[in-house]
Amino acid sequence: MLRTVARVLKFRALTNHSRFYSTTGERRLEGKVALITGSASGLGKATAYEFVQHGAQVIIADKDTQRGPKVAEELGPAALFVECDVSEEAQIAEAVNVAMSRHGKLDIMYNNAGITGPSIPHSITELDMNDFDRVMQINVRGTLTGIKHAARAMMPVGSGSILCTSSISGLMGGLGPHPYTISKFTIPGIVKSVASELCKSGIRINCISPAPIPTPMALTQIGKFFPGLTQEQVAGIVNGLGELKGAKCEEIDIARAALYLSSDDAKYITGHNLIVDGGFTCFKNLTFPSPDQFA
Ligand SMILES: NC(=O)c1ccc[n+]([C@@H]2O[C@H](COP(=O)([O-])OP(=O)(O)OC[C@H]3O[C@@H](n4cnc5c(N)ncnc54)[C@H](O)[C@@H]3O)[C@@H](O)[C@H]2O)c1
Repeated sequence: MLRTVARVLKFRALTNHSRFYSTTGERRLEGKVALITGSASGLGKATAYEFVQHGAQVIIADKDTQRGPKVAEELGPAALFVECDVSEEAQIAEAVNVAMSRHGKLDIMYNNAGITGPSIPHSITELDMNDFDRVMQINVRGTLTGIKHAARAMMPVGSGSILCTSSISGLMGGLGPHPYTISKFTIPGIVKSVASELCKSGIRINCISPAPIPTPMALTQIGKFFPGLTQEQVAGIVNGLGELKGAKCEEIDIARAALYLSSDDAKYITGHNLIVDGGFTCFKNLTFPSPDQFA
């Protein structure tokens, strides 16, 4: 009995210290200001919902002037839509300025907007360099510009968390069209390069690499190969691409990864690529011929 009481007291002494506590379960972004590009739809939208639920004020920055304001309206007073095409530096700068003038700070910048570009032709021999430039302009230059202007706002304060969206297409060849794949390979490189500087200012920068998720982007892209199928059927195909039994990759998985990386729970994590793929890119099976082929 005495030994049990002693054990309980020892456990309490250990845990009754703020540095041992995770903020899990609390509103983990209370009082934080976040700007999310590409948040009128898909992963960015899901992240905006998650962030608001955890107490953040969110700027919905998207070029979609139809869906963007609706998302902000659904989220209520914690959200504001700002029209922003990430391929235009002045528009990203303005979105950051809106966050600063409205809230006086920017704690989290999530550079998430992206496009796949054309999936056809497949061959490098027929690559249209204008298509390549457009994908790089949005996925790479847009991300880099977002980082630049977020850093401008965060550096004087000496803190902040910057996130970017890469992809499993940025980890292995053959999972997407060449321009998209090349653009997504670039993102973890940008993160590491910029982390080397921003570390000195107390600003963290990380990226997330999701597996396929049936967002409008993925449904449109993969639907092109299955013109006769309904959206539900295409979503079924996308969901069937995973390897982890009993689970599928969903928007909320990325939103939770973004919540973790942007919260103080990840206070010592920077330069990291958080792969959310249910193990997809960590193995490949050997496809042996069947023994009866040699009989
Ligand atoms: N869905 C997937 O399977 C998947 C997997 C890995 C990575 N990603 C990446 O996730 C990110 C979000 O994709 P999603 O699946 O949510 O797609 P989505 O099409 O549902 O949403 C993308 C959003 O980005 C916006 N956008 C596009 N170009 C823009 C621009 N120039 N400026 C501002 N906003 C712009 C769109 O209006 C849209 O609201 C992308 O970077 C994508 O490459 C998606």
